[in-house]
Amino acid sequence: MSYATQKLAEEKVFKDPVHRYIHVRDQVIWDVIGSKEFQRLRRIKQLGTTYLVFHGAEHSRFNHSLGVYEIVRRIVDDSFNGRPEWDASERLVVLCAALLHDLGHGPFSHAFENVFDLDHEEFTRAILLGDTEVNEILKRVSNDFPQKVADAIAKTYPNKQVVSLISSQIDADRMDYLQRDAYFTGVSYGHFDMERILRVMRPREDQVVIKSSGMHAVEDYIMSRYQMYWQVYFHPVSRSAEVILTKILHRAKALSESGYDFEQQPTHFKSFFEGTFSLKDYLALDEGVLLTYFQYWINEKDPILSDLSDRFVNRKLFQYIEFDLAKDYMKMRELEQLFKRAGIDPEYYLVFDSSSDLPYDFYRPGEEGERIPIHLLMPSGEIRELSRESEIVEAISGKRRTDHKLYFPEDFLTEDGKKKALKKQILELLK
Ligand code: NI
Repeated sequence: MSYATQKLAEEKVFKDPVHRYIHVRDQVIWDVIGSKEFQRLRRIKQLGTTYLVFHGAEHSRFNHSLGVYEIVRRIVDDSFNGRPEWDASERLVVLCAALLHDLGHGPFSHAFENVFDLDHEEFTRAILLGDTEVNEILKRVSNDFPQKVADAIAKTYPNKQVVSLISSQIDADRMDYLQRDAYFTGVSYGHFDMERILRVMRPREDQVVIKSSGMHAVEDYIMSRYQMYWQVYFHPVSRSAEVILTKILHRAKALSESGYDFEQQPTHFKSFFEGTFSLKDYLALDEGVLLTYFQYWINEKDPILSDLSDRFVNRKLFQYIEFDLAKDYMKMRELEQLFKRAGIDPEYYLVFDSSSDLPYDFYRPGEEGERIPIHLLMPSGEIRELSRESEIVEAISGKRRTDHKLYFPEDFLTEDGKKKALKKQILELLK
C-alpha cells in the first residue's frame, strides 16, 4: 500500500468543543499533525489580543486548523463521496490544505507582520516547501505533493472545487472560525446550522454550489459573520491592545537600530530587527517567547519600551475616540504638536487605526479584491448568485463598513503633575 492511501490501524479522535470529535484515519494526516511545525500552532492564539477583552478567547490556531480539516473531511467523505462531479483522487490534497492553511501564522500575527513587513502566506509556502518536517512528510506522498498543497492554499491549484473548499465566501475556514470564536468568546453571535450547509453542498464543474433549499442556513452564516466582525474581530479594546503590541515591537526595533544597549539581549528578535531572519528564526518564535520578552522589557531603561510593555502585560490599554483622519487631518497635526510639547511621543502614543470589512460580495470581475460569489443550485438545475435570490444578503452585499479610531493613553493626560493646562487642552480636543 502506498503512503498516500495508508490508513491507521485504528481511527484516532480528538475531542473538540465545536465539532465534538475530529476524526483521523489517514497516516499522512496523523504524521502531519505530529510534526513540529504543526505543533507550534498550539502556541499561537487564534484571536491574538482578543483574550484581553473576551477572556475565554485563549484557543489556538492548532484548534482551528484541526476544525477546518474536520469540516473538509466531512464534505469530501460524506457529502461529495461517490458523486461523479467530484474527483476522489483530490481527497488528500484538500485535507492537507485544510489542515495546513494557517501554518505560516506567527505570534500575534497582524502586529508582528506589520512591524517586520512579513506575510504569513509566504511563510506557509516556505514551511511547506522548505527544509521542514512537514515537507519531509508530504514528500513521502509524492515529490510534487508539497507543491500541490501549497498551490491549493494559494488558490492557484487547477481544481477549483479544492480551492473553494479552503477559500471562498463560504469555505471550511470561515465556517470553523466563526463557530469556534463564538464558542470561546462566549458571544451568542456566530452560530448557524453548519450541518445543513454541509448536507446541501454540491460539487459542480469548477466550483462548489449550495442547493437552494439551504439558502436560509447560508443567510444565517453570512449574518453571523457580519455580526462577529463587529462584535468580536474589530472590538476597539482588543485593537487597543494590538496597537500597543505593534508599538512595543516598533520601539524595540528602533532602539536596536540606534545601538541601544538592552539589559536583556533580544536574541530571538535580532535577525528580524536586522532583516536577516531565516525560516528557522521565524519558527523559533511563538507567543510565549514574545510575552517573556515583554516581561523583561518592563525593566528596560528606555521609558517608552518599559511603559508600553507594562501596558500590554498588565492590561493598561489606550483609550480611544472615533476619528476620521481624512476629515480631521489638521486636528491630528495639532494633536501631534501638543503631545510633543507635553513630552509624550506621538509616534508611540497617538495612534490612528482603522478596520473594515465587506460581509459579502457578488462577482466584480477585474476589480481589486474580486471575490468568488456563493452560487445556489436551483431545482431547475440553473445556477443563481446568492444575492439575487436572498433579499437579506442583497441588503448587505458589496457594502464595506469601515471603523476609524484614534488611540491614546488617557492616564498620561489626567495624572497630576506638570503641564496641567496643556494636558487639559489635549483632553478637550480628544473628546
Ligand atoms: Ni484559518
